[in-house]
Amino acid sequence: MKEEFADAEVFIRELREEDYGALVALWREGGLPYRPQGRDGREALARQLKEDTAVYLVAEAGGTFVGAVLGSHDGHKGWINRLVVHPDYSRRNVGAMLVADVERRLAARGIGIFACLVEDWNEGSKAFFEKIGYKPFRGVSYFTKRKSDDV
Ligand SMILES: CC(C)(COP(=O)(O)OP(=O)(O)OC[C@H]1O[C@@H](n2cnc3c(N)ncnc32)[C@H](O)[C@@H]1OP(=O)(O)O)[C@@H](O)C(=O)NCCC(=O)NCCS
Repeated sequence: MKEEFADAEVFIRELREEDYGALVALWREGGLPYRPQGRDGREALARQLKEDTAVYLVAEAGGTFVGAVLGSHDGHKGWINRLVVHPDYSRRNVGAMLVADVERRLAARGIGIFACLVEDWNEGSKAFFEKIGYKPFRGVSYFTKRKSDDV
């Protein structure tokens, strides 16, 4: 990333369908694996964006994506998904701002509890969520059922 981007002001806005390519580039640069044939594909994202439960946000600086988060709610809880910050912008509060914005928008829809799933190896992400007020919840096993390996 060029020097001028590293100093540019960060602002947060809603993700749009046409942002897909830039979002994927950010996922790559931020080291977030994605499933282009499944739930992270272009068509899947377009469908998700039409749901009124989706709060999908990007952080931009100097016209470049420096962070993103896919928030949502299921009526009971708000979920923080696919949070990523460009390495050139890490530890500059971008992740915290993105999560706070999702929480604010979901709280306006009546949601009072927020959650995220973090893989055990991801010490940085666990430290991040603890720092912004999330408490680890022990004693839960995560079960999934998939239509296919790609989904
Ligand atoms: C996790 C991630 C989103 C954090 O984003 P960020 O913008 O760098 O985080 P912030 O600057 O808002 O951090 C706020 C506070 O959280 C804590 N924190 C953030 N990253 C941390 C890390 N790697 N190790 C320890 N503490 C960390 C710090 O206390 C930090 O405050 P400080 O910098 O003043 O000490 C980012 O590192 C990332 O994109 N990681 C790769 C993708 C990923 O793992 N996503 C999460 C999937 S569940």
